[in-house]
Amino acid sequence: MKGGAMALIRMPGLIDPHVHLRDPGATYKESFTTGTQAALAGGFTALLDMPNNPGSPVVTPEALARKTAAAEGKLACDVGFFYGASAGSLGTYGQVAPQVFGLKLYLDDTTGDLKVEELETIRSIMQAWPRSKPLCVHAEERTLAMVLGLLPSVGRSVHFCHVSRRIEVELIRDAKERGVPITCEVAPHHLYLTEEDVPRLGGLGLMKPPLGRGVDVDALWANLDVIDMIATDHAPHTLIEKRSENPPFGVPGLETSLPLMLIAVHAGRLTLDRLVQMMHTAPRRVFHMPPQPDTYIEVDDARRWTITDDSLYTKCAWTPFAGMQVVGAVESVTLRGQEVVRAGRVLDTLAEGVAIIPLA
Ligand code: NCD
Ligand code: ZN
Ligand code: ZN
Ligand code: ZN
Repeated sequence: MKGGAMALIRMPGLIDPHVHLRDPGATYKESFTTGTQAALAGGFTALLDMPNNPGSPVVTPEALARKTAAAEGKLACDVGFFYGASAGSLGTYGQVAPQVFGLKLYLDDTTGDLKVEELETIRSIMQAWPRSKPLCVHAEERTLAMVLGLLPSVGRSVHFCHVSRRIEVELIRDAKERGVPITCEVAPHHLYLTEEDVPRLGGLGLMKPPLGRGVDVDALWANLDVIDMIATDHAPHTLIEKRSENPPFGVPGLETSLPLMLIAVHAGRLTLDRLVQMMHTAPRRVFHMPPQPDTYIEVDDARRWTITDDSLYTKCAWTPFAGMQVVGAVESVTLRGQEVVRAGRVLDTLAEGVAIIPLA
């Protein structure tokens, strides 16, 4: 790389517990290969993939088997899967639980068709999923309060996805202080963008949960100590879709999340140790992910660069952060002793068969 001295920092391979790789079902937006290459470019060596695949949501053992088979030979980093909660799938939990890293329960409108509305069904799902395995919920505001209300009765832990509102993080703080067994994640777009960016971004600024107000963003930063982990919620859609009259919800995030969080480190909002906790240690612990021996990344912490659409590996080839100046770039990634990113470029290692994470 040109200019100035490098300032290499070494970190463990980052773990993203919330991505939508779109494979199978919508590989025109992203695929196992493009998504995992984008992950490596962003410093991630392990991902957990969500079940809301268009056309074939992972809510049956057969759909899970199809997804697992589709991933064969196509992954550039480790990937584990979530199973989707639905009224009809309760009877399959015992069978599928050992093959996935958790169950995903959708309680609000989002991309796909997996929203569960009926209170009794929600309670049954929370009771039926094995307590030893994580249960992730997409719950916004009222539905988050409802889940907290159900917890004493179902007696289990839950993980809250993409917390984005002041009231949510305050309810989570109160519950944690009372010893309620919950964990949560925040997505960088909810830390760096607000609803005031939507007129500028148009469809590129639309995701679920939607961008919050300034007070929401401030509350997330102020309560960073109760937020267990960062998750990108990498949810690519094509530019054509996003510029259409009815844009689908979701934004990519795998290649921008580390530099965005490094801005916060430089600003003194969190330490590098805490960043490693939030982007490696905590997701690994909460989701019982196996260690990746001899796996680490090197970040050039002195490199200033501008995020642009054409620097991306994600198939969707756009980011809501285009034009933003950041400092800190992934220089190399080593996965199980093999260099897979060099000088910021993803090497073509697929032939060597990087494996799906051995199922927990
Ligand atoms: C996600 C998607 O597109 O799959 N969209 C989003 O806006 N976050 C679904 C989700 O995480 O809710
Ligand atoms: Zn969601
Ligand atoms: Zn998501
Ligand atoms: Zn630095």
